[in-house]
Amino acid sequence: MYRNTTCGALTLSDEGKAVKLCGWVQRSRDLGGMTFVDLRDRYGLTQLVFNMDTDAALCQAARELGREYVIQVSGKVAERSNKNPNLPTGDIEILVSELNILNPSLTPPFTIEDDTDGGEEIRMQYRYLDLRRNMLKNNITLRHRITKAVRDYLDGQGFIEIETPVLIKSTPEGARDFVVPSRVHHGEFYALPQSPQTFKQLLMVSGFDKYFQIVKCFRDEDLRADRQPEFTQIDCEMSFVEEADVLETFEGMTKDVFQKIAGVSLQDFPRMSYEEAMANYGSDKPDIRFGMTFVNITDQVQGKGFNVFDQAAIVAGICAEGCAEYSRKQIDALTDFVKRPQIGAKGLVYIKLNPDGSVKSSIDKFYTADELKAIGDAFQAKPGDLLLILAGDKEQTLNALSELRLEMGNRLGLRKPDEFKGLWVVDFPLFAYSEEEGRWHSRHHPFTSPKKSDEALIDTDPGAVMANAYDLVINGNEIAGGSIRIHDRQVQEKVFSCLGMSEQEAEDQFGFLMGAFEYGAPPHGGLAFGLDRLCAIIGGTESIRDFIAFPKNNAARDTMLDSPSVISPEQLKELGIKTE
Ligand code: AMO
Repeated sequence: MYRNTTCGALTLSDEGKAVKLCGWVQRSRDLGGMTFVDLRDRYGLTQLVFNMDTDAALCQAARELGREYVIQVSGKVAERSNKNPNLPTGDIEILVSELNILNPSLTPPFTIEDDTDGGEEIRMQYRYLDLRRNMLKNNITLRHRITKAVRDYLDGQGFIEIETPVLIKSTPEGARDFVVPSRVHHGEFYALPQSPQTFKQLLMVSGFDKYFQIVKCFRDEDLRADRQPEFTQIDCEMSFVEEADVLETFEGMTKDVFQKIAGVSLQDFPRMSYEEAMANYGSDKPDIRFGMTFVNITDQVQGKGFNVFDQAAIVAGICAEGCAEYSRKQIDALTDFVKRPQIGAKGLVYIKLNPDGSVKSSIDKFYTADELKAIGDAFQAKPGDLLLILAGDKEQTLNALSELRLEMGNRLGLRKPDEFKGLWVVDFPLFAYSEEEGRWHSRHHPFTSPKKSDEALIDTDPGAVMANAYDLVINGNEIAGGSIRIHDRQVQEKVFSCLGMSEQEAEDQFGFLMGAFEYGAPPHGGLAFGLDRLCAIIGGTESIRDFIAFPKNNAARDTMLDSPSVISPEQLKELGIKTE
């Protein structure tokens, strides 16, 4: 037996016990007559003591241990004279009688400590070493617990987990596909699934009325903190359900997971229409931990000779409570923030409602004090508040104001990391128009059902068709998205046609699905959670990379494997990609 206990288990109640431990040398201290070694494994740290007086040779061997050596020790549990209250094993130490080096280690390229000296790049390259550090180890463990809680919950609700294929077919809708060349069929390619969407719908046709799968999905899109080219979904589908049934089931699952894993009781998730979310927060994933909702003052401020407002499609702002005392420098910093190219506002107008009742603004030249106060009233602002106002093109202004609101939320400490607020965003439009391509796109995906009452509008006014689609948003992050699906061939054909597909194209690409709809497809709907995002939010960060054992870097590379990589001319030839 290599070991009979672990480095996180022993306490004073084990005093006197003979134990055998294995682990990695975290650090060692040589105090002349004594050598102390911190031994680490997945479960914690235990202090080992080697005493020169009792065994000089053993003590000498301990002195020679390098960082990250893998060792096995036998010894007795003893009470520590110098206790460490920050460590679960801090009351004890092991008086070692036997030391066995299982494997030495090179000096690691960075220190394996909570506060490491290693930069991002080197840690990605040696990810297996980085995973030894507490932060990542705890994150990966958390992910396991979340996954387990999800499986338990869904199993308890009668869902069954079914695997769907990974080598599938490329389709033009959605993000870009990763493709895999076929050796057997030169010039033909499989695609890796962006999600198992069509398969789970087919499983509904097959009668598996409650399906789920914790599944890898692949999307060749630009990376961000909350996006990876391969990521994991908790993919779910149900038959004989309406929107409200799906929301209830998965609100239940989310609450259960937060309770079990984080001990957090989530409040009921409010349901907010897409329109309301955009008007009040300028975002379809609002962070509702704090207010500071938008006030549209376009009508009130136009026609007073201030060109910027007069020419704008929208003038809107937020009220930052108690911020009237912001200095010139602070306002300049906010102005710079909104003018950053990613945000793109042309400028920022402020109105300070001073505590003494006076007003001061960057538009004093154009508006009287009374007019400025009336604007304050529109925001229901109090003396001491600061109004921050943007104007311009509608979409861009709402977007910039949304970023400004989040920034102010951060600055004012309103986005508390230990507070969780979820909501359902509902009533999305079914289509969005792409000016660039001059055609309609599905906002969600083409299998999303229009609201029954809007079906007729598909041919005449696609922009007005509302969808049976919903997103789950927690603290401003889109955690899950889904919809009630089309299960009728004619409706599906209409949607494809609105997306600009010819009958033949629709048949070539999705004939299998439309065919299935003709063999008794039940009404069905579902959603998919981003598991990586769910883990990150429960774990308290927005970077999903920290919750994936072996993620890709910002440039979509795996620097540890050095992938993607070139392949040999022989392989290329075999795949029919190169002929000579
Ligand atoms: P959607 O595209 O909204 O829906 O994806 C569902 C959820 O997956 C997560 N997600 C991602 N996470 C990390 N990296 C990415 N690149 C990434 N892309 C998406 C998000 C998102 O909410 N088939 C539909 C679901 C359905 O209709 O049932 C789908 O894939 O958290």
